[in-house]
Amino acid sequence: MATLLDFPPMTGAEIRSAFLDFFRARGHEVVRSASLIPDKDPTLLFTNAGMVPFKNVFLGVETRANPRAASAQKCLRLSGKHNDLDEVGRDTYHHTLFEMLGNWSFGDYYKEEAIRWAWELLTEQWRLPKEKLYATVFRTDEEAEGLWRKVTDIRPDHVQRFDEKDNFWEMGETGPCGPCSEIHLDRGPEACDRQHVAGHRCAVNAGCARFIELWNLVFIQYNRTEKGVLEELESKHVDTGMGLERVAAVLQNVLSNYDTDLFRGIIRFTEEHARRKYSAYAADDLAFRVIADHSRALSLLIADGVVPSNDGRGYVLRRVLRRSARHARHLGFTEPFLWRVAEAVAGTMGAAYPELVERHSYIQEVIRSEEERFAETLDKGLALLDTERASLRTRGATLLPGEIAFKLYDTYGFPLDMTEDILREENLTIDRAGFDACMDEQRKRARDARRAATETVLARASGSSRFLGGQAHEAASEITALYRDGEEVSEVREGDEVNLVSAETPFYGESGGQVGDRGTVEGEDGSLIEITDAQKPLSELTVLLGTVRRGAFHRGQRVRLAIDRAWREATRLNHSATHILHAVLRERLGGHVRQAGSLVAPDRLRFDFTHTNAVEDATLIAMEDQANAYIRDNAEVTSEEMGYDEAIARGALAFFGDKYGDRVRVVKMGEFSTELCGGTHVSRTGDIGLFKLRFEAGVAAGVRRIEAATGPGALLLVRQKEITLRQLGELVKGSESEVADKVERLMAQQREMERQLQHLRLQIAGAQSGDLLSAAFTAKDGFKVVVAAVEGADQKRLVEMSDALREKLGSGVIVLAGRDDGKVSLLAAVTKDLSAKVHAGKLIGQIAPIVGGRGGGRPEMAQAGGKDPSKIDDALEAARALFR
Ligand code: SER
Repeated sequence: MATLLDFPPMTGAEIRSAFLDFFRARGHEVVRSASLIPDKDPTLLFTNAGMVPFKNVFLGVETRANPRAASAQKCLRLSGKHNDLDEVGRDTYHHTLFEMLGNWSFGDYYKEEAIRWAWELLTEQWRLPKEKLYATVFRTDEEAEGLWRKVTDIRPDHVQRFDEKDNFWEMGETGPCGPCSEIHLDRGPEACDRQHVAGHRCAVNAGCARFIELWNLVFIQYNRTEKGVLEELESKHVDTGMGLERVAAVLQNVLSNYDTDLFRGIIRFTEEHARRKYSAYAADDLAFRVIADHSRALSLLIADGVVPSNDGRGYVLRRVLRRSARHARHLGFTEPFLWRVAEAVAGTMGAAYPELVERHSYIQEVIRSEEERFAETLDKGLALLDTERASLRTRGATLLPGEIAFKLYDTYGFPLDMTEDILREENLTIDRAGFDACMDEQRKRARDARRAATETVLARASGSSRFLGGQAHEAASEITALYRDGEEVSEVREGDEVNLVSAETPFYGESGGQVGDRGTVEGEDGSLIEITDAQKPLSELTVLLGTVRRGAFHRGQRVRLAIDRAWREATRLNHSATHILHAVLRERLGGHVRQAGSLVAPDRLRFDFTHTNAVEDATLIAMEDQANAYIRDNAEVTSEEMGYDEAIARGALAFFGDKYGDRVRVVKMGEFSTELCGGTHVSRTGDIGLFKLRFEAGVAAGVRRIEAATGPGALLLVRQKEITLRQLGELVKGSESEVADKVERLMAQQREMERQLQHLRLQIAGAQSGDLLSAAFTAKDGFKVVVAAVEGADQKRLVEMSDALREKLGSGVIVLAGRDDGKVSLLAAVTKDLSAKVHAGKLIGQIAPIVGGRGGGRPEMAQAGGKDPSKIDDALEAARALFR
């Protein structure tokens, strides 16, 4: 490569510092790299850009003392919107893990300074040749285009416009975003890596390594919401990002990022152990690049607490590790080797990322055990894949069957993208539909197994966990038992489906009809279990069900348990409303009403009760009114523990199907309801807000069911009805009070139109049948036969025509064929007097196969369908031949 620069190369570390110093001198606070795991951001698996830690500042949710910041942030582009895995190793400038140098303005400076400083750093401080730099802007961003020409001395024809694909930057499906302006460098024709591609022309954004994107200046002005809408942000921000590895290649005067000091040490380490030389551009040396790139990602991910597992972040880690393992095998390593490379990674990056040194032996241990685990199946899988590839080649086929890809995945642990990657080398692909079908089948099996595992735990679990009552939403406690796959274990890890018991718990375990709580269990180190259900197999024992989303947990660990408050709140309203409904039912329908089952969920309540007849509408309305009157009374809700006998003596209702101990809890609402209940309730009935019945129906002999909603759920129900009514009103063009009349009138009109239509159809059938009658011929046995095709007729029409014909014929045989919308209909009819001579069903049975159909029927009338309209004439000719 022609020398771009006239000063000695800077090391990666020097470039990093120079960048940060440059912005520090311009009032920026230099911030440390955040973790690769975004803090409390469920929309992102990994930190994929330097701006991620500042997302909430852009959204206006958080503020910072200094409105300017700069950092060197470790980033991973392995998931979601930004996933560069396919490119990694194949080219010399995409990476899974890279460092992003960035500067930020939070509602402070905007486009002008961002452009001016970027230009100054690149061309004055780092002295990149101006005539080789290009700037791109978003197609409508005249402001940025004008600024490039005004505040820099870039060549005017080097400022180019591009559309959304290249110049509108978004972090993920949602979040802060905006138009951007990129700086590209022309590294000369010898840098192009696509010369072999027919029709390739080197240009900015043409996808080759000659014009390389160095720096992206994003002008954040929108938030993309969950609905996909762009909302204007209150302030405008700047978010810039420059890949350290790329700029290092430029400033070290090499074409490949792998030839910079950021990778050389790792490549050299691999060369020494493999006893092979890496030469930057040979295709075989892909393996060196993959190992160098992936090893950095592995070490930093593990340092940030990710461990290999079967889903989420853990699976991304596993995929990266297994991909590297297969390339290590390619370089001739038969023993685990990647864990050793972690040493070279720590040597190269440890000064900037001390966690690599601090957690070094842990990182090596995790890599090594995963490598060993995979080594057992890697060779077998590769052998299977070799056989399959050979078989595809001999058959001239290019699609690997889905079952084979699934076997490689399931039995040999080959991540799908790894298999794809291997196949790509020979232009082969995977039958994805086949693979997905196998995967679905396996998921179903896993779901069943999971259910069975939880049931096993619930049946066997013992011990106790103290429920802290309806007021506690959080608690610090200790894990007393952990289960995985139905077995008790001492430790669980990211991706595991688990059951968990803690000494104390704020989680309400499903009982008394009330569903279990959801929420989270968190470790002090940021590890996290997402809890999706809580069960109560014993009166003093709550077992949580969930998935480890981050990190690992062990028995005896201190954790923070927190319930999903919105879920609990909505459920609580429905539980108290259930008691009110029970009381109202007994008042209105009589004391024979007994609860026969109930479900109390956040979105609704369902109450089954003993009663023989449907409840009349007027009674339902009166009950709804009464329930709402009790709510508006705002009566106090109290709960008190006492002996079972005392509770019953006080008139408490015991719920059906519940087991009660000696001590029971009595929940009392005003003077109208007293029930035994362990559930969570409101403190005053007014908290319920609104009670709205959804329906009343029978579910079994003598058992009726009522469903209702309360609070926000009731409001939603009413609103949905309102919307439906409004839509109906718009359709029939009438106000809400007119809708019913209008619909009734429309229905009467429709009935009248159908009557007239039928009348007309019969008239037409009569007229057409007159025409067909003239085509009648006399059979050898002397009776009249009509055989005809009727264009555009379906079965119904054929029946109408044969009825009209029969009337006119008096005596005879009719065979009709209709073609409608590519389908064939056949009909045969025989007048009663001839039914001993000709059998309509048998006749149809003979001719239907000709049009690709089957059919049969009674002696006087038979019908059939068919698929081949081109054979209608043949079928009718066959019918005629029967009578001639
Ligand atoms: N967020 C932008 C990017 O990642 C600029 O930092 O390219």
